[in-house]
Amino acid sequence: MAVYRYPCPLSSEITPRHLFFSRRALLGAAAGGVLAAGLNPAGALADGEAAAAARGWPAAETPTPKNDVTHYNNFYEFGMEKSDPAELSGSFHSRPWQVQVDGLVEHPQTWDLDALTARFGHEDRLYRMRCVEAWSMVIPWQGFELGALLRAAGVKADARYVAFTSVVRPSEMPGQRSGLFSLHWPYVEGLRLDEALHPLTLLATGVYGDPLPAQNGAPIRLVVPWKYGFKGIKSITRITVTDKQPPTSWNQMAPEEYGFYANVNPDVDHPRWSQSSEQIIGEGSLFRAARRPTRMFNGYAEQVASLYKGMDLRKEF
Ligand code: MTE
Repeated sequence: MAVYRYPCPLSSEITPRHLFFSRRALLGAAAGGVLAAGLNPAGALADGEAAAAARGWPAAETPTPKNDVTHYNNFYEFGMEKSDPAELSGSFHSRPWQVQVDGLVEHPQTWDLDALTARFGHEDRLYRMRCVEAWSMVIPWQGFELGALLRAAGVKADARYVAFTSVVRPSEMPGQRSGLFSLHWPYVEGLRLDEALHPLTLLATGVYGDPLPAQNGAPIRLVVPWKYGFKGIKSITRITVTDKQPPTSWNQMAPEEYGFYANVNPDVDHPRWSQSSEQIIGEGSLFRAARRPTRMFNGYAEQVASLYKGMDLRKEF
């Protein structure tokens, strides 16, 4: 097995997941409930849909069936296959849970998860998710803006970045016990401070109207919809405001393949595959995977392009 096998498309993934799951019933339930209240940031999901429809591509705002969202996962602490996180997370305890907020803040604090949700609440956000492996979903999250937590913590003037750390629990996470995989634990991620404060950046505590299941990052994970999915660190235990660019797991493992920024960009291919289009999980047929063109910043350019003005996005990928 090549060291850099993951994340990358596997031939086995070409089989559409919808063949395994009952899609229609779930989609109906979602459309009637959570999604009615879902946020559609500044019409971001709608633009470009007419062009996609004209080509016969499915609309980008069609929510991915719940069973795909919760059974087709990347969470390497539980294993390397897409089905592992749902199947091998049975002994993971996501309660009680604490999140330490520290570093360059006026009020460092260790929050109990329930205190976090009591203070910051949760709202619905329907976001596209584009994995660096060239597949995508549309996911109805519940959560609160990371910016709200950072503002409450009081970010100091010399702060520039925010670092995130995942839980380490080998006794509950089989992927942390096997020495097979070359990611190091804890899984770590980072954002520039302005990215962290952007109103689209979410700390998710729920999906499809339920508390996050283990496989999706229980009880709290990051969602940054204009970046590749690996930025969305799961099961967060620590958020540290810092003046230095923090190390990030995939960048440490393969810096030439996974950048710090990881903004979705159809013009910058992964060294081993194209990023110009994406397979739509939950659509298509056994014989023909459903694909659509990938959009700059995953379709959120109107909201976030200004963050990267003057940067060479080929070099800072
Ligand atoms: N967070 C942790 N702690 N461990 C992981 O392996 N995988 C990342 C990200 N967050 C990962 C993680 C990757 S590669 C992706 S694509 C997304 O989680 C997948 O999120 P999902 O399974 O909820 O779709």
